[in-house]
Amino acid sequence: MRIDILTLFPGMFTGFLEGSLLGAARARGLLDVRVTDIRDFAEGVHRQVDDRPFGGGPGMLLMPGPVVDCVESVQRAGAAPGHLVMLTPGGRRLDQATVEEFARRERIVLMCGRYEGFDDRVRQTLHPDEISIGDFVLSGGEVAAMVIVDAVSRLVPGVLGDDESARQDSFSGAGRLVEGPQYTRPREFRGLAVPEVLLSGDHRRIAAWRHEQAVAATSRRTHVSQTERSTP
Ligand SMILES: C[S@@+](CC[C@H](N)C(=O)[O-])C[C@H]1O[C@@H](n2cnc3c(N)ncnc32)[C@H](O)[C@@H]1O
Repeated sequence: MRIDILTLFPGMFTGFLEGSLLGAARARGLLDVRVTDIRDFAEGVHRQVDDRPFGGGPGMLLMPGPVVDCVESVQRAGAAPGHLVMLTPGGRRLDQATVEEFARRERIVLMCGRYEGFDDRVRQTLHPDEISIGDFVLSGGEVAAMVIVDAVSRLVPGVLGDDESARQDSFSGAGRLVEGPQYTRPREFRGLAVPEVLLSGDHRRIAAWRHEQAVAATSRRTHVSQTERSTP
């Protein structure tokens, strides 16, 4: 799978892409991640990429020219243009179903905003899939792009040591349940014992218990978020 990241801060990705899972996946040719500097498409001696908003207001906006030129140039390179994603707080909220949808694609192109965001004509010209990673505001799209690269890449076959582990994770599979509690050694820690069923060796009982726990954890979580929503 190929992932392109378009940013004004390419240096932010250096350590991230070399990290354990991603670094190994890239070295093994499972993932081809390329970072392009939007500023390379700016004009003039100052290579300006941002300007003040028409109508007034704080901060600066990303000018449409360098961003659109950058996207078009990157999409022209390679076998297919790929699925274009604009990172923006106003986009549809990222979830595991969307991550799975991205992981099935051969190529995605992630556009990172900065400052007060993009001039709206970027959206009107390119019609990207607008994605938010949550209802809060980051300083830039880079961390949001890292979230997507991380979540998507672990679903690419061969990236995880055991592909089954992604299938058993929270929000995966039927019902999109969250994972129930897990335990490792020691069998007892500060008076807290590992549930007996997990030591039984009875795989059917263990699977049934895990499912029960996942249903309970999911319903607790749903209850908490509903309570949060109804609290003024
Ligand atoms: C400071 S934000 C701009 C916020 C914008 N003025 C607004 O109020 O919606 C700068 C950039 O960070 C990225 N960003 C911020 N929050 C995000 C979020 N929750 N999800 C995805 N990207 C985000 C976007 O790329 C955005 O263009």
